[in-house]
Amino acid sequence: MIIINIGSLVGIVPEGVLRLQGAEMSRTGTLHDAWLRVQDGRIVDFGPMSAVPQEGGVLDAQGGLLMPAFCDSHTHIVYAGSRAGEFLDKIAGLSYEEIAARGGGILNSADLLHCTDEESLYEQSMERVREMLDKGTGALEIKSGYGLNPADELKMLRVIRRIRETVPALVRATFLGAHAVGRGRTREAYVDEVVGMMPQAAELADFVDVFCDEGFFTPEDTVRILAAGRRCGLRGKIHANELAVSGGVQAGVAGGALSVDHLERTTDAEIAALQGAETMPVMLPGSSFFLGLPYARARAFIEAGLGIALASDYNPGSSPSGDMRFVMALGCIRMRLTPVQAFNAVTLNGAYAMGLSAQTGSITPGKRADLILTRPGWTLETLPYTYQTPFIRQVFLDGEPL
Ligand code: NIG
Ligand code: FE
Repeated sequence: MIIINIGSLVGIVPEGVLRLQGAEMSRTGTLHDAWLRVQDGRIVDFGPMSAVPQEGGVLDAQGGLLMPAFCDSHTHIVYAGSRAGEFLDKIAGLSYEEIAARGGGILNSADLLHCTDEESLYEQSMERVREMLDKGTGALEIKSGYGLNPADELKMLRVIRRIRETVPALVRATFLGAHAVGRGRTREAYVDEVVGMMPQAAELADFVDVFCDEGFFTPEDTVRILAAGRRCGLRGKIHANELAVSGGVQAGVAGGALSVDHLERTTDAEIAALQGAETMPVMLPGSSFFLGLPYARARAFIEAGLGIALASDYNPGSSPSGDMRFVMALGCIRMRLTPVQAFNAVTLNGAYAMGLSAQTGSITPGKRADLILTRPGWTLETLPYTYQTPFIRQVFLDGEPL
């Protein structure tokens, strides 16, 4: 298939570039008035309409924008039911921490998940996945962490595995046993339990995650869990600095984490710790929006020469949305990223944060054809600007229309 009359082809990145950092984040390879060829699910080549190949199987883009599908590196979309009751508590004035301290929050979702059979959990989760794919997400990471005991954590990881085998998107699984201390245990005993779950979890997961924050797990717990993960072949992805300056960034970098996520509360020490590291800082503006937290200091990170990714954090407690276009809009409107910076953060850098940037996240020959074709007239600027107007004409995953 050849897509012709592409108004702008954006996100063109040379082969071998796996992430963008500092000033690189302000640029993206663009070709106006272009064509692009897809074969066997891969991007094969592209060029200007002045030299369009004359072949069959043509799709007319009618001047629309063609871009890589979104790469959402941080979600918790396998959960049961909702936390709509806590939504009312939040409106009444309770904070995320206060709701958690009353035994609500993550523990509430764990109780619901415990009572939900695997089939129903899969169906509920698949609805969210379909919603995300319809909105242009082509690669996503999904965490466990509402099980908080071996049987329920493995149930979640099996559901993620089944999603991965069903959907045309790329899916990565993360074992987040250390999301909250399971009911009736001390923190110390529960960390031992998480370490004990690691070998079985590693058969189903790609990464291990720890909620390293005030009231949850400490940097020492994090270092220990990351080491246990490494012994089983799992790389780290840390929740850090959402509720307090937690030490989670430093613990993550020291433990070789692929990403450190949230970062609503950071000092220059966290930026310094990330210099020269392979670790991608991932910011989650949807949770700042929903919980009324400060937004992460994206521009300070970029000015210091770092790359950043943006992800949805889709979950029932702090970010009940997986809309990556809205995430991009929050990046521009509230974090003052330029549309190009926000675009790079929701595509190639998001893919990097899942270890998938050699396969997807940019317009690069050889990569999967995970693409969004917009309606005519859209640009990278209008996408986050008129942030609710429908813009997608067709999503392609692995070269096939969704
Ligand atoms: O990334 N902060 C910890 N975990 C999730 C929230 C999970 C929940 O409240 O259910 C987050 O925001
Ligand atoms: Fe999260």
